[in-house]
This record gives sequence, structure tokens and C-alpha cells, in this order.
Amino acid sequence: MTILAGFDIGGTKCAVSVGKWSNESIAILGKEQFPTPQDPKTAIELMISKFEELLITLKLKSAEAIGISCGGPLDSKRGYILSPPNLPNWDEIDIVSPIKNRFSVPVGLQNDANACGLAEWKWGAGKGCENMIFLTFGTGMGAGLILNGNLYTGTNDMAGEVGHFRLEQNGPIGFGKAGSFEGFCSGGGIVKLARAKAVEWINEGNHPLFCPALQDIPHITAKMVGEAAQEGDPLALEIFKTVGYKLGQGLALLVDLLNPERIVIGSIYGRQQSLLEPVTIETIKKEALPQSLAVCEIVPAGLGENVGDYASLSVALHLLENNTKGS
Ligand code: BGC
Ligand code: NA
Repeated sequence: MTILAGFDIGGTKCAVSVGKWSNESIAILGKEQFPTPQDPKTAIELMISKFEELLITLKLKSAEAIGISCGGPLDSKRGYILSPPNLPNWDEIDIVSPIKNRFSVPVGLQNDANACGLAEWKWGAGKGCENMIFLTFGTGMGAGLILNGNLYTGTNDMAGEVGHFRLEQNGPIGFGKAGSFEGFCSGGGIVKLARAKAVEWINEGNHPLFCPALQDIPHITAKMVGEAAQEGDPLALEIFKTVGYKLGQGLALLVDLLNPERIVIGSIYGRQQSLLEPVTIETIKKEALPQSLAVCEIVPAGLGENVGDYASLSVALHLLENNTKGS
């Protein structure tokens, strides 16, 4: 049995979890979360103290390794987070050393998409794959790449930043780039598309279910657009058609480049699969090489709402496994 700890740093909340790895399965023993503080020092202190509280509650001495998962860019070798856009007030910060110094166990850091990719590969919808791609499709769009049976991170941890792909000259901005994959396929992308469309439609006298009036435009959320589409609102359906089409384009690039056996898609894809899947599949069939597509399954993520906890815990396990391999 191995006790693992995971620290998940998100744009809105941070979570600390403790897990038990035994007989090839993972169980979450305890979890604490709190809103992400404006300054990283406070965040580090809080994660440390929440972890210590959890250890006391669970009557455990320590964990064998700690995994940290955070949005990019970051430098996993130095253990630094490099001012990620989802944490606008955080400067470049050494996140690994203070935690390592406090607990004297191995501490690993990974990009959140890589961490979720590891978790889905070890315990979720990517189990047993040699070549698998995980796509976040939540607040942001990023990929975790499992290639030849291991996590591929690139030369300086920038592999899988697929949200930056430009799919069209114009379009919603994501990653600072108009028409990017993240610009279309993310929570923010859906909102941007819906805002732009709502203005057009209301001016033409059509009022979408997700936005009955011009004054409501600032309050549109991706969830509202999703609910309206589920209720059959033609305007919301049109937005999901665009998003599904763009998802298909992005997937086709990945299929042609990496020839994966499975692509696992998180968050929004799982919630809106019935709306997205038909147009996504139709598009990818048009865009990707048939020989590659024939061997590739496209499935929603398997770990559900707790994926962030499994993700950081899988970073800890990955570290232990790779340390053993190396020694
Ligand atoms: C970031 C990636 C991250 C993804 C998902 C993107 O905006 O650049 O590093 O993995 O969002 O959070
Ligand atoms: Na990545």
C-alpha cells in the first residue's frame, strides 16, 4: 500500500487530497479545498497546513510522494510555475522547494492537462492504452499526451499546448489568439460565441433562451448556453454546432499527427456529448486520414467531477514509478 498526496492548483480553487494506492487501484481517503488565494505564498502555506490537518484526521504520518497539478506554463524540472494566465496575480514561483523542504518526500509538478492525462490513463477512460491523448476542454484547452506508454512533456514542458492551434483567421480569442482551438473549444469560448451571437440575434428580433435581453449579455455562462441547447433553443444549438465542428477540426490535427488509439475528452465534452458528438465525428471523418481514424476511439473522460484530485495524485504516483525505474 502506498499513501500519496495531491495538490491541485486551479484558477478558482485549490484542493489537497490524500489517496491510497494498493492492488492497482486508487482510493481517495480525504480532501480539503479552498478558494485560490491572490498570492502564491498564502496558497503554499494553506496547502501545507491543510495537508497536515488531513494527515492528523486520517492518522497518517506522511505520504510517500506529493504531486502538484497546475495550469501551464511551468517548468517541472526546476519545480517552478511560470506566471500562468489562469493565475493572473501569480509571478514566477518556486512551488516545489518549500513543499519538499517541509515534508522531505519526493514532490513532482505537472501541467494540469498532463496530470489529468496521467490520471485518465492510469485509472480512467484511457486505461491500457499505449498511445492516448487527453483534452481538458474546460476553462482552457490543453492536451496531456501519453505516447509509447509514457507521458510526453516535450523539450521544456510545452508539449500539448494545443489550445494555441489556430483553426480560423477570425473567431473568439483564446490563448491571446483569435480563432484558436481554445478560443472556440473552452467554457470561455462558448460564452464569447454566445455573446457575439446574442447581439446579432436580438438586433434581428430573435431572443435566445440563454439570453432574453441585451442587458443579460454580460451574464451569459457556458452552462446557460448548454441548458438552452438541451431544451432545443435553435440559437444555442447553432453555437454547439460551431463548437463541435471546431472540436472535430482540432481532433483531426491530433489524429493525423500522433495516430493515437484513443482520445479522451474532459469536462464540457462529457456534459454535452449528445450535442457535440455527431458534428465532431462528422467533421473528423472529413478531415483526418481514414487509416488513422479507423484505429482511434473518441470518448468522454471517465473520472468525473473528482478528476482534479486523481490528477494530482497520479503525478505523485508517476514520480514514484519513474524514480524506481531510474534507480
Ligand atoms: C493552458 C494549459 C492548460 C489548459 C487547461 C490552457 O490555457 O495554457 O497549460 O493545460 O489551459 O487548463
Ligand atoms: Na500538456
